[in-house]
Amino acid sequence: MTEALRPIPHPIPEARRADLVALLNERLAATADLQMQVKQAHWNVTGIHFQTLHELFDAVADAVHPYVDEIAERVTALGGVAKGTVRMAAAASSLPEYPLDAVGGEAHLTAVRDRLATYAADNLRAIDAADDLDDDATQDLFTEIQREIDKLQYFVASHLL
Ligand SMILES: [Fe+2]
Repeated sequence: MTEALRPIPHPIPEARRADLVALLNERLAATADLQMQVKQAHWNVTGIHFQTLHELFDAVADAVHPYVDEIAERVTALGGVAKGTVRMAAAASSLPEYPLDAVGGEAHLTAVRDRLATYAADNLRAIDAADDLDDDATQDLFTEIQREIDKLQYFVASHLL
């Protein structure tokens, strides 16, 4: 599991940074996967509310996208190698695959809602893990992401209430 880091000066000891890099790469995979899964909803949603949902899913994907970059650059700032290709993300993501048989607005809203819920639960555990590894900066990044995901979930799940 533990990989060698680049020899950079950093106040966090290397062994702890290696654990943080592994944690961050898990979140990188899930975040990249989430962004593209919401794009999948954006592209494939149909029905009487098409325009509203098409735009909603694009806004959600756009809100997630910057965190792919932020997480990857936290990996490299800690001396690690970011694992962010589509294939790397697919291999390591904690999210279930998007349902190809989703048809209509409710099915796509439900699929996106459920993936946001899984992502949020995993991210909440990552906040605790970053705290255990005593890295306030990584914990702060995950906490910022949690706030954003909670808001996006509110936007999506409200359509189903
Ligand atoms: Fe588009």
